[in-house]
Formats: sequence, C-alpha cells, structure tokens
Amino acid sequence: MSFLNKDSKAAEEPAADVATGARLIPRITIQAFCEHSQTAELIESATHDRRMSKVALTTHNGGLDGAIETYKSNPTPNLIMVETSLPYAEVPAALGRLAEVCDATTRLIVLGHTNDVVLYRELIRSGVSEYVVLPATAHEIVTAITDLFAAEGAAPIGRTIGFVSAKGGAGSSTVAHNVAWAISQNLRQDVLILDMDLAFGTAGLNFNQDPPHGLADAIGASQKMDHVMLDRLMSKAANHVNLLTAPVLLDRTYDHEERTFEQVVEISQKTTPVVILDIPHTWDAWVRYTLSTVDEVVIVAEPDLANLRNAKNLADAFKALRPAEAEPLLVINKIGVPRRPEISASEFASSVECKLLGQIPFDAAIFGTAANSKINDVYRAVALHITGRNALEVASKPGSLKLPDLFKRKRA
Ligand SMILES: Nc1ncnc2c1ncn2[C@@H]1O[C@H](COP(=O)(O)OP(=O)(O)OP(=O)(O)O)[C@@H](O)[C@H]1O
Ligand SMILES: [Mg+2]
Repeated sequence: MSFLNKDSKAAEEPAADVATGARLIPRITIQAFCEHSQTAELIESATHDRRMSKVALTTHNGGLDGAIETYKSNPTPNLIMVETSLPYAEVPAALGRLAEVCDATTRLIVLGHTNDVVLYRELIRSGVSEYVVLPATAHEIVTAITDLFAAEGAAPIGRTIGFVSAKGGAGSSTVAHNVAWAISQNLRQDVLILDMDLAFGTAGLNFNQDPPHGLADAIGASQKMDHVMLDRLMSKAANHVNLLTAPVLLDRTYDHEERTFEQVVEISQKTTPVVILDIPHTWDAWVRYTLSTVDEVVIVAEPDLANLRNAKNLADAFKALRPAEAEPLLVINKIGVPRRPEISASEFASSVECKLLGQIPFDAAIFGTAANSKINDVYRAVALHITGRNALEVASKPGSLKLPDLFKRKRA
C-alpha cells in the first residue's frame, strides 16, 4: 500500500463498499499505457471490480512514450493511466511532452515506481490527477479512479449541449443526432441523447430504435430516479451512443414544469461524458430554463429571414440568461434550397453575433449518410468544438497545450 492511497480503510475492505452500494464510475473511456505486463494485468483485473462496470478500458504497451506517440494522432480519452519507471528527475519533462498532445479535458493518473512525497506533490501541482505507487492492488487502482470521477462532490463529468432550431424544422434534431454520432465515432466518447420532443421526437427513428422506455418514464419516476434507473431506461443505439427516446404518443399532452428535466439532466451528467439535449422548437418556461443550465447552446438555423430574426432573438435571450456562460453557437443548415433567396452564412452569423460552427448544404444531412465525408467533417468540427476540443488545436497537434494547463481539473 502506498502513502498515496487516501482510502486505506476501503482498500482493506473491498466487500464493504459493494455492500453499501459503492458509486459506479461513469461511462468514461480509459486508456492505460504500461511498461510491464504485470501492470497491464493489474489494470485489466481492475475491470472486474463492480464499480468499473460501465467503463471502457483498454491497455497498451509502451508506457509514457507509447502514450505520447498514440496521442499525436488520436483523440485522448477521459482518463489516461501511464506507467513510468523513468528516473524521478525526468518524469515532469516527459509528462510535459504528453501534455502537449492531449486534450485539456483529459485526466491523468501516473503509475510510478518511486515512493516519494516530493515527486507526488510536484506532479499534483502540475495537474496530474493522482500518482499511484506500484506495486498496487486492483482495488487501489479502482479507488483512485473512483475518487476522481465518482466521489461525493466530484464535478459532474458530463458536458451538456442543447440543440435548438431557430425555426421549426430547421434541422436541430438532425444536426444533434449526427453530432452525437460524430462524437462517438471520432472521439470514442460515450454520448447520451435526451429526446425532449416528447410528442414528435425523431431520435428513435434516426437511430432505428423503438425501445419500450425512455425519457417520459425518466421524468415520471421523479423521486425514484437515480443512475440505476437511468441505465434501465436508456437504450443503446450504437457503440458509445445511448438514447432516452421520446414516447411519441399523443394520448396525453406534455405540459412540463420549468424544472421537469433538471434531475434527469443532472443524473445523466454524472454518468455520461457528453449529454446532448434535443430540444423542440418552442419557447416554454422549461425550454428557457433547461437551456439556461447547459454548458453549450447550439442554434440551428436555415439561412432565411425568419430564421435570422428568430436566431437573433434566441441568441440575445441566451446571452442575457447566461451572462457568465459560453455564448451560443450557430450552425447554418439547408444551404442551397433551390430557388430560395438566401442570406450568406457569414452575414447571418455576424447579424446574429454568434460563432458560426458549421454550414450544411440542403439535402446532405440525412442521418446515416456516413459516406459523405465533407458533411462528416462539418459534424466532426462541431463535435470537437462543443466537447471543448478546438478543431484547430487538434489539427495542429502537437504543441497546442502546455503543462500545467493540461490535466488541471476542478478538484471540487
Ligand atoms: N441539410 C438538410 N437537407 C435536407 N433535409 C434536411 C436537412 N437537415 C434536416 N433535414 C430534414 O428536415 C426535416 C426537419 O429536420 P429536424 O427534425 O431535424 O428539424 P428540427 O429543427 O429538429 O425541428 P423542430 O424544431 O420541430 O424540432 C427532417 O425531415 C430532416 O430530415
Ligand atoms: Mg427537433
């Protein structure tokens, strides 16, 4: 046992926290780069821990150098674990090189062979999330991950992104679903789509799913709602894509309270790295409230006058509602409808005073046309931006990020 393990009691009593309903680690992706096969085995054995049941973990060879090589050309996961047996003095510089090729949202656990408190402090100060001294037990590894991602009061891991159309039918659902798909494919991040258009939503259709349960059950469960129930209600649409679908039944009306979705969104954020809110084109209290709480708002608009007016109103409303939050973002959809007078995308964006994230031609957004690489590039760029990865920075890897900015997390 190392001096670094803050949870030594739990380490001695693995059964105890299972009995008390240990918190599950959210649906994160973890990649571990090991130097020794025993370390890889140790990490793989950690996946048998119940707390790791939702985690997607892979182990790789090559230690720090392997990680640096890999992330020069690949997106980084939620958590990197890296084993190093470098001499003490060389560790910070090597981690600096890793930092240069990593996204700012990624966290890092270092597995080292030096039991030294000064090194530990230096690493933590530079933004490393945890340092575990080897040999360690699988339980210690899992506990280190749990402390980071599932501890009481840990910052929610999920980034919430609301998509709304400037005018009904402008394509916000289509864009939201395609962007969710792009996130799952390009970033290998788990995405949960909440189809909040309970009467007419299309997430089920677009992903070819018709599950018996979904978002209506989640909001109906109120007090009983927790991450276990969320798991039961969501349906898996593809690798890394989960849905809470809309019932699309008109046997009742859907008159939500202002905070109807608050709890579901909060629980979703605790379990999934990216939560996409597909919001219908209305301006009800719940829409305004829900969009005031998300990390990013994306307005999808067609390039005509009515959309321009509405997009401007929406953008102004969001800026006023969320003065301290990220400004709304804009995607122009259905460019080039035959015989329609059109406002240019750049003119549209500057009138609305929003950052233009992407432009999608008419007749090219139908979900599932994965072969259309040009459109996929647009969705990918939107995906990178809204998940906090600046497309330009990623393209110009390495060298875009520097320690200690990297690996710096809110240690809530
Ligand atoms: N670029 C595009 N080219 C052609 N058709 C498109 C394009 N984008 C979306 N569509 C189609 O437009 C219709 C409306 O799209 P969608 O349901 O995504 O709109 P919406 O903005 O979510 O509507 P609402 O605001 O009512 O929720 C769908 O039939 C969709 O397939
Ligand atoms: Mg829609």
